[in-house]
Amino acid sequence: MMNLFRRIEWLIVISYFLIVIVEIIVLRNLSGSPEANIVRYLTFFGVVLLSFVVVRQQIVKPIQEMRAASLQIAEGEYSNRLPIYNNLELNELAQAFNEMTATIEQSEQRRVELIGDVAHELRTPLNNIKITLEGLIDEVISADSTTFFDMQREISRLQRLIAQLEILSRAESDQIVLHKQSAPLDALLHSLTGRLAIQFEDKGVALEVDISADFPLIPIDSDRITQVVTNIVGNALQYTPPGGRVVVSATYNASHATIAVKDTGAGLNGSDLTRIFERFYRVDKSRQRGSGSGGNGIGLTIAKHLVQAHGGNIWANSSGYDQGTTIAFTLPRSKN
Ligand SMILES: Nc1ncnc2c1ncn2[C@@H]1O[C@H](COP(=O)(O)OP(=O)(O)OP(=O)(O)O)[C@@H](O)[C@H]1O
Ligand SMILES: [Mg+2]
Repeated sequence: MMNLFRRIEWLIVISYFLIVIVEIIVLRNLSGSPEANIVRYLTFFGVVLLSFVVVRQQIVKPIQEMRAASLQIAEGEYSNRLPIYNNLELNELAQAFNEMTATIEQSEQRRVELIGDVAHELRTPLNNIKITLEGLIDEVISADSTTFFDMQREISRLQRLIAQLEILSRAESDQIVLHKQSAPLDALLHSLTGRLAIQFEDKGVALEVDISADFPLIPIDSDRITQVVTNIVGNALQYTPPGGRVVVSATYNASHATIAVKDTGAGLNGSDLTRIFERFYRVDKSRQRGSGSGGNGIGLTIAKHLVQAHGGNIWANSSGYDQGTTIAFTLPRSKN
């Protein structure tokens, strides 16, 4: 692939070369005659025309294509891509342009999807509240504490959804700023599980912590990692029936720490193992809604973004439905 300036230099050299050849071969015999001048003029005209065509094909046309593509982007059309040019600078420019267009197209797609998903998620609780209010007005629903409790629950769910969406939108646009500091992960896990102990007792699910006392300090944003573990342990509680057990453990090697939350609950099958990290994905929506404990399907998506922002990975393991689930994630031990 040839450099743009080198190409222009070659064009000039070849033009002179052509003129010199014509002078030598043709004009040697015709020198001084009127025919010689005609040949001379025609040669110059031919060379100028040739240069014009080459410059137009190699430089002007690609620039025009880029201009047209930019105008299309300005009009919101992101699917077009520029071709590969056989010119170094123009090709680099075209590839950078294509990457930029792909990024804009992706984020535009995410934006449209997010709006659709949010509208869908808001519809159910709002409908429930509206139907209950209509029932109260028409006096077909009695104004007792159960009715108000149901409405309060729907409103709380909406508030929680909005709070989660704020975090999610920042996480999805990579706007989460981490305040990392070397922190004792063992103390963080003990205090977090201590705070959740009452909820586990109330449901009759055992909660254990398995972590060695000499656990090293890990560079983390403690608030964010608390949020990650809270989401995962909250799920373990929600999807484990009474009589079950949840174990929070942490191990480490030279490069990273691994935190795992293992439960004896509902379990997961096949593609659910990866899909649960997608936003708004819930394994069994109707069952969760029916039981009144319906989540929003965002907790693990937020957890995934926060873990990835720390440079770690998150995954799920399960042998199938009702076989329990383990959700684990890593956190690098290096500071960057
Ligand atoms: N420990 C678990 N056992 C079985 N299923 C689980 C477990 N954790 C998550 N899931 C499944 O993954 C889905 C997504 O989990 P996620 O935490 O993202 O959303 P959620 O719990 O439904 O709602 P929220 O946004 O309120 O947390 C859940 O709806 C549930 O179906
Ligand atoms: Mg959850």
